[in-house]
Amino acid sequence: MKKILVTGGLGYIGAHTVVELVNHGYEPVIVDDLSNTSLNVLDGIQAITGQAITFYQNDVRDLNAITKILRDNQIEAVIHFAAFKAVGESVQQPLKYYDNNIGGLVNLLKAMQTTQVKNIVFSSSCTVYGEPDVSPVNESSPIKKANSPYGNTKQIGEEILADCQFLNTVALRYFNPIGAHKSALIGELPLGVPNNLVPYITQTAAGIREKLTVFGQDYNTKDGTCVRDYIHVTDLAIAHVKSLDYIKNHPDNKFEVYNIGTGNGMTVLEILQAFEQVNDLKLNYSIGPRRAGDVEKVWADASKAKNILGWTAQLDLNEMVRSAWAWQQNLPKNAI
Ligand code: UFG
Repeated sequence: MKKILVTGGLGYIGAHTVVELVNHGYEPVIVDDLSNTSLNVLDGIQAITGQAITFYQNDVRDLNAITKILRDNQIEAVIHFAAFKAVGESVQQPLKYYDNNIGGLVNLLKAMQTTQVKNIVFSSSCTVYGEPDVSPVNESSPIKKANSPYGNTKQIGEEILADCQFLNTVALRYFNPIGAHKSALIGELPLGVPNNLVPYITQTAAGIREKLTVFGQDYNTKDGTCVRDYIHVTDLAIAHVKSLDYIKNHPDNKFEVYNIGTGNGMTVLEILQAFEQVNDLKLNYSIGPRRAGDVEKVWADASKAKNILGWTAQLDLNEMVRSAWAWQQNLPKNAI
């Protein structure tokens, strides 16, 4: 099993995963519709790996195109990233999310069934746990009602995959990926105003945004700000490689989920402080009101991934915030 289709392979996590696939002897083929990224990312991947990567500009909802790509390239496994992920937007435009995230998944699975490709790694999220009663959460923790259509698409996506018994599925529940490749040639580049914390921090430090607002300091946490399990995107990328290795060695696997986090809960203020300290700068920020829909605290018990996939996070918070800033500084002014 070498030839891997990576849907959404020019997105933030997808691009880092493509690099690690090449590093570990796999042959990735990318399909991406460029709806939330650009071809510059392909240049970055090719500069890092020193290889030409096969790329198709297609939407995963195009059944004929995806079927042909799977067949023409003799694909043996798929890593499915292609999806929308803005929580707030999903509340405003739920059908956009159900159409792309669920319609895209169903379409991809139809194409896989037709071409008899049964191996898949799916991008899921810790959002499936909602506001957990206790942290760390493990894979047996209750799945709470999703607090956004985006979150619901991840829950439904897992259920669809579990129902498809012809598949060999590993679903990875990501915690909060941050940071960038150590080369600073690829990283996170959201279109428009960032929703997520770290791109907002780096754009504020770069002077693109005037000020960061910390969303609430009245939570029941050690400094009053929300707690998350931040994980370096390269570690997260390697979890996909380990998942493919596992699938290859366990052809009878049907459906398994794994938490992918570090096991450390960090507050928003701890992230800000680490960013300032490691990069030796001061960030303009103030405390504002809570953001609707935010979970107070969640972090991972990632022992299942360690025991079964042989995966653990290696890179620490200093490397996460250092690489995020290096990437921001390396960005061309006219990026995207
Ligand atoms: N935060 C701020 N100020 C900001 C942005 C974020 O204080 O400008 C805080 C948030 O309130 C939260 C923490 O930083 O406490 C992290 O927020 P993110 O938006 O970076 O990430 P979330 O934990 O909200 O993650 C959610 C979903 C994921 C999803 C992700 C993608 O839980 O499943 O959004 O948008 F993938």
